[in-house]
This record gives sequence, C-alpha cells and structure tokens, in this order.
Amino acid sequence: MSVAKAQDLVLLLGKDSKRFMVRLSPGGELHTHRGFFKHDDILGQPLGVQLASHLGYPFYLLRPSLHDLIMNIKRESQIIYPKESGYALLKMNILPASRVIEAGTGSGAMTIVLARGVMPSGKVYSYDRRQDMIDLATRNLSNVGMLDFVDLRCRGVAEGFDEKDVDALFMDLREPHLYIGRVKESLAPGSFFGALVPTTNQVSALLEELERRDFVDLEVSEILLRHYKTVPARLRPEDRMVAHTGYLVFARPVSEE
Ligand SMILES: C[S@@+](CC[C@H](N)C(=O)[O-])C[C@H]1O[C@@H](n2cnc3c(N)ncnc32)[C@H](O)[C@@H]1O
Repeated sequence: MSVAKAQDLVLLLGKDSKRFMVRLSPGGELHTHRGFFKHDDILGQPLGVQLASHLGYPFYLLRPSLHDLIMNIKRESQIIYPKESGYALLKMNILPASRVIEAGTGSGAMTIVLARGVMPSGKVYSYDRRQDMIDLATRNLSNVGMLDFVDLRCRGVAEGFDEKDVDALFMDLREPHLYIGRVKESLAPGSFFGALVPTTNQVSALLEELERRDFVDLEVSEILLRHYKTVPARLRPEDRMVAHTGYLVFARPVSEE
C-alpha cells in the first residue's frame, strides 16, 4: 500500500463528499469546513484509509483522479469539462507518443488531459495569443506535474503552427472556421481534428469550411451528463444539471493521393 509522501498531491474526501486537494509539505496546514489538518499528521499515512483525526469527523485520504485534477485548476477562462475531454481523447486517438497541437490553451484544463494521453514520450504543442493565459496554464500544468509533456507558445493561430504532420489538433477558440487552412497545413493526412464551439451557427460555419477543405468522417455531437443522487432506496436524478457546455465537432483531413 502506498503512503502519502512530501510533495504528493492528495485528496481529502469528507464523509459529506466535500473534496480538498493539497500538495503535502512538512509544516503545512490544510483548512477544511470542519477544521484544519497539519500536513505532518497526513505524511506517512497510507492512501485509501480513513484518517485518524482530532476533528471528530470522517475524512478519507485518497490519490486524486485526473477528473479531480481538472476540476481543481485555477480558471480564468471557460474550461473543457471531463465529459467532453474524455470523449475527445478517444475520438482523436490520443495515445502515448502522439504529437498533438492544441489551439486555445486557456486555463489548461484540456491541455492536462491531452498531456496525460501523450505521456511519457509524446508532446502537446499548445497555442494561445494571451501571455496571461499561457502563464496561468503553465502554473496549472506545473501543479499537476504535467509541464514536461507540453510546449506552450504565445501566438495567434492565424500565423499558423510550427509543427507539421502532427497526429491530432484540437481547437477551443472563437471562430475556428477561420483557421482551417492553417489546421490542414499541420495535420498529417488521415490524422484527427476536433473542436468545441458553444453555438450552432459556429458549428455550421465550421462544417462548411471542413467540407470545402476535403475533411472526411465529420461528426457533430453534444454530450449531456446527468448525475444521480446516490441514495439506493430513492434513486433519482439530481435536481439540477448543466444544460449546455458546447458542441463537439470532429473530422479527418485527407489528401488527393
Ligand atoms: C475558452 S479558452 C480555452 C480553454 C481551454 N480549452 C481549457 O480547457 O482550459 C479560449 C482561449 O483561446 C484563446 N484564443 C482566442 N482566439 C485565439 C487565436 N486566434 N489564437 C490563439 N489563441 C486564441 C483565448 O485567449 C483563450 O485563452
């Protein structure tokens, strides 16, 4: 059984499902809704157990999932949620050793998912025209230990991408249809393109452009995720759900011969 060590990122899960993620360091403190823990009292404890604590309230010590990491990042943009990023990873065949371009780094939520997919020998090349977003994504990637698998570039995508013959390219920025010429220059024939757009008119503009530039295997999808209250005797959906995040568009570039 592994134990919590200094510099490990751990999740403390309260009995009421409140989640607290923290990187452990000797002398540190973690404040919760039920009081605070000294990191020194967590260090050396086995993962997957209920913490013995002075708080008189059950907390469980767990390794955070990729889902936890994404939902915990600092955000200054809309992020791509796991329901979309998980599906996109499979649709775009992101594998260890893949070379992937991301256009629209934002807070880096999707970058983390792509990095987890390509590691340990692949690379994500992520572009954003705003230096403040590149800086934020750098911090978020560093916090979750994924920075080594990402090259971040501060540049507008109208200028094109440095990398050619990449395995996949994912776009999350305004008006992606304007940049499909640049996208095609960098994708290997038969590779994978994906995008997330929030409105249907953007989907239509993107489809027209993808067809015009000989992309095939087009797909438009929307993913709705409904959570349930986990009460066995009264199993029913949660009262509220997120009704809309965005539309996913996928396609593959082909060449004449
Ligand atoms: C919605 S955010 C991306 C969020 C990101 N996918 C995530 O999961 O955290 C869109 C980002 O695209 C960037 N952007 C918009 N237009 C751009 C362009 N033409 N070239 C490069 N970046 C652009 C914005 O600066 C913004 O940071």
